[in-house]
Amino acid sequence: MSTKLTWLGHSCLLLETDGVRILIDPFLTGNPMATTTADAVAADFILVTHGHSDHLGDTIAIALRTGATVVSNYEIVTWLMNQGVAKAHPMSIGGSHLFPFGKLKLTQAIHGSALPDGSYGGNPAGLHLFLKDGLRIYDAGDTGLFGDMKFIGEDGIDLAILPIGDNFTMGPDDSIKAVKLLQPKTVMPIHYGTFDLIAQDAQAWASRVKAETTARPVVLEPGQCVAVD
Ligand code: NI
Ligand code: MN
Repeated sequence: MSTKLTWLGHSCLLLETDGVRILIDPFLTGNPMATTTADAVAADFILVTHGHSDHLGDTIAIALRTGATVVSNYEIVTWLMNQGVAKAHPMSIGGSHLFPFGKLKLTQAIHGSALPDGSYGGNPAGLHLFLKDGLRIYDAGDTGLFGDMKFIGEDGIDLAILPIGDNFTMGPDDSIKAVKLLQPKTVMPIHYGTFDLIAQDAQAWASRVKAETTARPVVLEPGQCVAVD
């Protein structure tokens, strides 16, 4: 089995593992970095870290078109079901569930989660995936640095996906601290470059990861995919 990861720009990722397509934070419409569209992207599951429009994105349209199951916190799932999404699975932070692709645990994130219409979107989350092929992926979602990343790291991380854009989330300095707490084998930056406010030099960030941590940095271009191992 192999797992393939494609960065679709901003925080949108497509994981293909064991024949299952997992779409994360599908902000495509209105995303200047997007390399595909809500009409074209495939999904069996859609994972939504929090309610902000640059993460919830096209979740409703894609779920209705593809019949994908949406997984998010209880408040967001309830809101989506009220919008007509039929297949959705509610979770909460600290909880794990075994899905066809493997186990997913929701982790804390320090951020907000209001939904686009102002509804309460529960608590923002990160995603810790324990895929069937043994691969462990941690997507921090939108968050600032927090010390409990140490405990998340103790559960094992092959690939950490971290925001580095600053302003709304961790910036490069705190992301280096996060790598030291999480101890992933590989680390990939997201949530940067989409807008001027979150512009970052990803190559300079990668040089720092190599110099200051034991992790291997992987910097993708939007639309680029990588085999994860
Ligand atoms: Ni956000
Ligand atoms: Mn965001």
